[in-house]
Amino acid sequence: MYKISLLDINDLEEAYEIEVLTNPSPWSIDNFKSSFEVGHHGLVCKEDNKMLGFLIFSPIKPEAHLLSIAVIETQQYKGIGSLLLKSMVSQCKAMGINQVFLEVRASNEKAIGFYQKYGFKKDAIRENYYSGDIPEDALLMSLGL
Ligand SMILES: CC(C)(COP(=O)(O)OP(=O)(O)OC[C@H]1O[C@@H](n2cnc3c(N)ncnc32)[C@H](O)[C@@H]1OP(=O)(O)O)[C@@H](O)C(=O)NCCC(=O)NCCS
Repeated sequence: MYKISLLDINDLEEAYEIEVLTNPSPWSIDNFKSSFEVGHHGLVCKEDNKMLGFLIFSPIKPEAHLLSIAVIETQQYKGIGSLLLKSMVSQCKAMGINQVFLEVRASNEKAIGFYQKYGFKKDAIRENYYSGDIPEDALLMSLGL
């Protein structure tokens, strides 16, 4: 059975392992540590104590920024991302947040479809937002709560 809980300092390595397998320009382990230290909020989905996915967001009332969400590839399409996103939305509502923002790679159709399913709207394109060998545009999306 899936269990959603708050991301704890002992979860950072496991979240990082999922990150490197799912993100073409992954956060470093130091990025995870500093994100935790500055007080970003994190949620994890575990089954039998094994992490299957995580989500990190930064709430700055009245807005929140969804910074990262990832599910192990073999566990995708099973509703884990949805559980994490719905849990973030409930937390945001309880905190009095009324809008959630995010950036997603313009080519990431799967994630864009996932966000649209939950009501996120496409707001703008940020050109060459993602650096690297092949720079890529970001799509900015938002959800009113
Ligand atoms: C995006 C991600 C978190 C979604 O998690 P998930 O556990 O697979 O998602 P769920 O099973 O809860 O939801 C699936 C929904 O996403 C949408 N979706 C999934 N794949 C899609 C695709 N190829 N095209 C359009 N929509 C898609 C659908 O709406 C689907 O709902 P449905 O099953 O009713 O059709 C996951 O795919 C992931 O980790 N991707 C790699 C990391 C990443 O890209 N993160 C986002 C960075 S901004």
